[in-house]
Amino acid sequence: MSDAPFLAVGQIDDNIVTVGFDNADRRNAIDEVTINELGDVLTRFQSKPTILVFHSTTPGMFVSGADIRELRDRTSDDAFRSINAGLFERIESHRWPTIAAIDGYALGGGCELAMSCDLRLATPKSSLGQPELGLGILAGAGANWRLRQLVGLGLARQMLYTARRIDGTEALAAGLVDQLSEPESLLDDAVAMARRISRNSWRALELTKLSLRQDRPATTGFDIAAQALLFDSDDKRRRMDAFLDKSS
Ligand code: COA
Repeated sequence: MSDAPFLAVGQIDDNIVTVGFDNADRRNAIDEVTINELGDVLTRFQSKPTILVFHSTTPGMFVSGADIRELRDRTSDDAFRSINAGLFERIESHRWPTIAAIDGYALGGGCELAMSCDLRLATPKSSLGQPELGLGILAGAGANWRLRQLVGLGLARQMLYTARRIDGTEALAAGLVDQLSEPESLLDDAVAMARRISRNSWRALELTKLSLRQDRPATTGFDIAAQALLFDSDDKRRRMDAFLDKSS
């Protein structure tokens, strides 16, 4: 199986595929190349029963979020293209279950990507959070409603308004992750979970996933319009410049 530039895709067996983020220099930030590669993976595995396991090839990090270099230059028009939100919708609607295996930070779009998966495993020292407001944008790729759905309005407000990060243990207690694992066994544990799921009838599994998505709230439209407003702001550019100047 060929590897995408920033993704390492591995076929575990006929029905289980691992999708590894492989761009440690950028802390696995999701840029448009990665978005397109992830889109290709989803297309490639949409016709045959496949459980997808998302992970990082580098221990101690999951995904640092959308690529701030690209975000800084995105305009309201890009917001309406729904680049990240659209990908996460596709992950959510993958016909069979998806699993995120998190070790380290899952921030911004990294946390949103994990939340678009059906199930999440994390290590105790993981760090999950939504720092978008500090960058002058909103968590427009699903956190405003997926986070609330998983952890409740109170903790969702705290995480969004104050950028508080929670570790794996707190995330488990809050319902943001479903299982804790040690870093050494994280991927094996995620694959073991995928194997248990894969013993089921594929059609029954697909229909159950469809059934569980019936009450999905439809707030995406508002988030896209709000993000469009913020993407054109000077405040956003100033805040993103500050992050990039600090790290370069
Ligand atoms: N987008 C683009 N580049 C990013 C990035 C992101 N989300 N996160 C990290 N990087 C880049 C840095 O700019 C830096 O690039 P450089 O080597 O060219 O200077 C490199 O990755 C290493 O980042 P650094 O901050 O030095 O790594 P760290 O290990 O000390 O910290 C993080 C890692 C993830 C905690 C920190 O990088 C961070 O807070 N990133 C931003 C998280 C965020 O706000 N995400 C939401 C985006 S909407």
